Amino acid sequence: MRINDERLHRHFEALSRIGATDQQGIDRPALSAVDIQARTWLQQRIETAGLEYRMDAAGNQSALLTGRQPDGPRLLLGSHLDSVPNGGRFDGALGVLAAVEVLHTLSENNYAGDIVLEAVNFTDEEGSHVGLLGSRAMLGQLAAEDLANPFLGRRAFEAGLQRLGLNPDDLFAARRSPSQLAAYLEVHIEQGPVLAEAGDAIGIVTGIVGIRRQTFTFQGMANHAGTTPMDRRRDAGRAAATFAVSAWQTVAQAYRDCVINIGDMRYHPGSFNVVPAAVAVDLEMRAADETRLKALHQQLLAVAQAQASACDSTLACGPHEHLGPVAMDEGLQALLTQAAQELGLRYRKMASGAGHDAQSFATVCPAAMIFVPSAGGVSHCPQEFSEWQDCLNGVELLLQAVIAFSAHQ
Ligand code: GLV
Ligand code: MN
Ligand code: MN
Repeated sequence: MRINDERLHRHFEALSRIGATDQQGIDRPALSAVDIQARTWLQQRIETAGLEYRMDAAGNQSALLTGRQPDGPRLLLGSHLDSVPNGGRFDGALGVLAAVEVLHTLSENNYAGDIVLEAVNFTDEEGSHVGLLGSRAMLGQLAAEDLANPFLGRRAFEAGLQRLGLNPDDLFAARRSPSQLAAYLEVHIEQGPVLAEAGDAIGIVTGIVGIRRQTFTFQGMANHAGTTPMDRRRDAGRAAATFAVSAWQTVAQAYRDCVINIGDMRYHPGSFNVVPAAVAVDLEMRAADETRLKALHQQLLAVAQAQASACDSTLACGPHEHLGPVAMDEGLQALLTQAAQELGLRYRKMASGAGHDAQSFATVCPAAMIFVPSAGGVSHCPQEFSEWQDCLNGVELLLQAVIAFSAHQ
């Protein structure tokens, strides 16, 4: 049994047009009007394939394929259709199309396994509002506080959910019983340079890094930018800038096993001629080791405090989002290894520095991921690209893994 290459490619091209930017990228933030367009497209894709379509209370869209046992345990396959601002065509989209294509192919071949197969598009994987919203809601990992401060504010979040006819208070109803979940598999582009540089076709993911996010707000005092002597300013902009430089130095000197990103700084009031009164700094930290991640977080808090004091400013820390590092299931890694060998695909085992819905599943049921090479190792930008044959290899491997998994249940 093989994947229908032409059909998969046609669907990839069609989906890539929804939210396309003029630089060949995708701008499809979760719950935006274009995300809704992509969701409508996906529903049609699923229904045209003759698969059962469902959407849950968190907006997760599913295609279902039942074999001999309609109430049997479920193998979920999935990823996300939402993108980061001005992102790429492959991140998430490939995994959702792969999942639906695998079900379509098995359905055409009169699937009669004991496992129910479900292909899912998870809501807001990228965290435009709340990171991994859909998969966490499905797995009962969402707390009321997670919904209290969405990144774009509560009003934008509610308006986005309303576009789907959803209510924030109902999100928890998406929760599934873990006993129903047999396993989770996801195909994704690597988003880094390892596979492409090594000439490997497939990455079998061993684990996913832990991720912490927090907004540090430096507060000084607004004042006249021309008349206030330099040594009398309580300049929040200076505190934010010196913090950024010190944070980079801290990682370079003492935390080489970690990465950080300052993805945004917002100046208030934000004017040429006003000394910044406050600057909000969005900081993200990642590491495979939880102890190291925690130590880095504490160290950067201390650095921020020191820089605030040095600039006669104060520091206010926002709520922090925290996802622990997870390991992928050993049994599923072995199954993927064998399937890759049988397909003659050169593979390597590797860790993921990117976050994925698979990390929500890893603590609830066996979960694993298949990576395909990213040309130039770039992602979360319009230049993100993977050779089509590389994408196809990943989807073929997913199909063979699903067949092998359902045969062994
Ligand atoms: C998701 O793409 C992430 O790693 O932030
Ligand atoms: Mn992403
Ligand atoms: Mn992704």
